Amino acid sequence: MLKALRLVAFSIPALLCLSSAVVAEFNQTPDFTQGDADKGKQIYQRVGVCVNCHGWAGDGESGRNPMSHAAAANLRESSLDAQGLYDVIRCGIPGTQMPYHDRVSYKDDRCFGMKLADFQPGQKPLMGKTFREKQMLDLIAYLQKYMIGHGKPTYDECALYFESSADRACSYLKGN
Ligand code: HEC
Repeated sequence: MLKALRLVAFSIPALLCLSSAVVAEFNQTPDFTQGDADKGKQIYQRVGVCVNCHGWAGDGESGRNPMSHAAAANLRESSLDAQGLYDVIRCGIPGTQMPYHDRVSYKDDRCFGMKLADFQPGQKPLMGKTFREKQMLDLIAYLQKYMIGHGKPTYDECALYFESSADRACSYLKGN
């Protein structure tokens, strides 16, 4: 008991110090008009590696990482608005492979009123990459401009995504 208390007394100030130095807290209701869709592609592709599970087209199939066993949602058919997307990306979806992307989530009650310790073992939310709020807004603008509400992936969309390697990456869509 005493030992546990000592541990807590030591680690709480250390953790607080660390988190305030590294993480700027996300605003819960940011100004979504500040997002830049074309910058968001970097976040989707490289920073957040959303592409691993959701695929380049966001449909949960096209070009996702074959090593990923997660069957991810089809973002093209998502009915979420900007705030809904923001909340899902910030908090993830506990009990699924969809990770959360804010280091401070589940440290207090900002996500679903729950802390990490409140979840049953198999239901704990998984932690993904953390990025800055502006990157989050760029990412949402990207999803809204290039994926949500789009139908089946087309060659032109694929070429836009893969740029100079479009020939190789998108030949399977020729004629679509
Ligand atoms: C490890 C795999 C994985 C990664 C990485 C991942 N997701 Fe997901 N995502 C999922 C899965 C699985 C679901 C569906 C969960 C469920 O409801 O069963 C999902 C669901 C979602 C949803 C909810 C869609 C809806 O309409 O309900 C959004 C939005 C989303 N992901 C966006 C993203 C973004 C943006 C990124 C990158 C920052 C990302 N995801 C990274 C696996 C992943």
